Amino acid sequence: MRTVLVTGGTGYIGSHTVVELQQAGYRVVIVDDLSNSYADVVDNIEKISGQRPGFVKADLKNRAATMDLFSSAPEIEAVIHFAASKAVGESVEKPVAYYRNNIDSLLNLLEAMQKYGVNHIVFSSSCTVYGEPDQLPVDENAPIKKANSPYGNTKQICEEILRDARVPDPDLNVVSLRYFNPIGAHPSALIGELPIGVPNNLVPFITQTAIGIRKELKVFGDDYNTPDGSAIRDYINVVDLAKAHVVAIERLISEKNKAGFEIFNLGTGRGNSVFEVIKAFEKVSGKKLNYSVTGRRDGDVEQVFANTDLANRELGWKAEKSLEETLSSAWKWEQHVRTNQKN
Ligand code: UD1
Repeated sequence: MRTVLVTGGTGYIGSHTVVELQQAGYRVVIVDDLSNSYADVVDNIEKISGQRPGFVKADLKNRAATMDLFSSAPEIEAVIHFAASKAVGESVEKPVAYYRNNIDSLLNLLEAMQKYGVNHIVFSSSCTVYGEPDQLPVDENAPIKKANSPYGNTKQICEEILRDARVPDPDLNVVSLRYFNPIGAHPSALIGELPIGVPNNLVPFITQTAIGIRKELKVFGDDYNTPDGSAIRDYINVVDLAKAHVVAIERLISEKNKAGFEIFNLGTGRGNSVFEVIKAFEKVSGKKLNYSVTGRRDGDVEQVFANTDLANRELGWKAEKSLEETLSSAWKWEQHVRTNQKN
């Protein structure tokens, strides 16, 4: 059985990816410092897949700990690197901590991979690298715009580090996956997004409002140049997204990625406005959502949605789930969490 190291594997996208990897026949070792996730995610992954992933609690900012991880698990053949801080607003408040965390961890990983002869890495990137795109849908050749937050800048810098790292080391194979807006939860409702504190992202805020934890959702702006005035994003189901990682790992291990450094957009190709998301949520949950419109949020772009032709063609992957089905899974997860009083 092939073994994949999943950094940040108890986190939101990481945990869903661990399940999909296991179901595709991979053995998984998770490394996570649990700074933004919970150890019992490992139990829930096991409940879904019937296999317990390896789990190492370690901080990848710690170089010695990163080296130890690889020396103690020589079976690791590939890495999926999710572990990173991802709150846009917080990154503006704590830029140094964001650069330290997101960049040091990648550098330590790359050094350890080189030392222990691991050549394959999938990197978690973001559509934030495109900023406000000139053309929609946005494809992988669109220019990288100046990042509007330290978080976004770390994604750009990490992609550059990976690109440069392969120049003297052509055995290093990299796939960078640029996610649009991942939402929803596993259909079992055993894993999902568990933001600590007040959520920044739209869908957790919607579900927490519907269940009564938040008073009302603030819609950030209804004066955009869009059909209903609210901002447009490409909301992709997290299980669909997780499946793309399995394909990327297969591509790396089978060395089909002749280019050595490849980038793929992961989205649905469909743009939905904030108001459309609210309406779809109300439909699937049968609940009226309490919301009001307020001013635009600093740093938000008007619209961004993906051209996914490259991933469809090269990876043979396509997002399958509808917005309704995905919002329904998010709602089921929120109800499950509150019943079990996890957070
Ligand atoms: C942002 C980042 C993305 C990052 C993600 C992780 C950008 C352009 N995008 O996504 O790269 O990976 O965060 O956290 O920096 N909204 C409301 N009310 C709310 C919350 C959100 O109206 O309470 C609106 C936003 O204005 C936006 C949409 O909902 O139009 C989606 O927001 P959100 O879920 O926060 O994701 P992004 O900002 O698109």
